[in-house]
Amino acid sequence: MKQLILRQLLDPESHTYSYILGDMESKEAVLIDSVSEQTERDLQLIDELGLKLKLILETHVHADHITGAWKLKQKTGAPILLSKFSSVDMADRLLDDGENLQIGQLLITAISTPGHTKSCMSFLWNGKVFTGDTLLIRAAGRCDFQEGSAEQLYESITNNTNRIF
Ligand SMILES: [Fe+2]
Repeated sequence: MKQLILRQLLDPESHTYSYILGDMESKEAVLIDSVSEQTERDLQLIDELGLKLKLILETHVHADHITGAWKLKQKTGAPILLSKFSSVDMADRLLDDGENLQIGQLLITAISTPGHTKSCMSFLWNGKVFTGDTLLIRAAGRCDFQEGSAEQLYESITNNTNRIF
């Protein structure tokens, strides 16, 4: 039987949700959308769960939150993965639409969802999708600054529903 866990964490300052996915069998973890100020909290929780961080994923890079990815990589050696459309050089691997990532029993599919930024990526895992700022609770992310496009955001949300649900 698969022993997979999900933990949702909030950074109250930036209102950013981070997610830890864990495979309790292989003891491997993936962290999505870390926040710089919460690095110690995240590492402590991963440690308390008996897991090792193996993959750092970013749905996007944006001024509204400062990622903890670099600090996490320095402390754990885990690689940073993000969209191939990102214009940052911190990535260890750039992801294309539809790529599958396997960490232990964690199978994650990268789905390109531009609009909030041109390089936004959502991650599908175990019937759940982590959308970053593309799709929020009762709202969509803003697209009026930093490479945003309302048309692209609409297409990203409406064209991908059959892949997600
Ligand atoms: Fe954002």
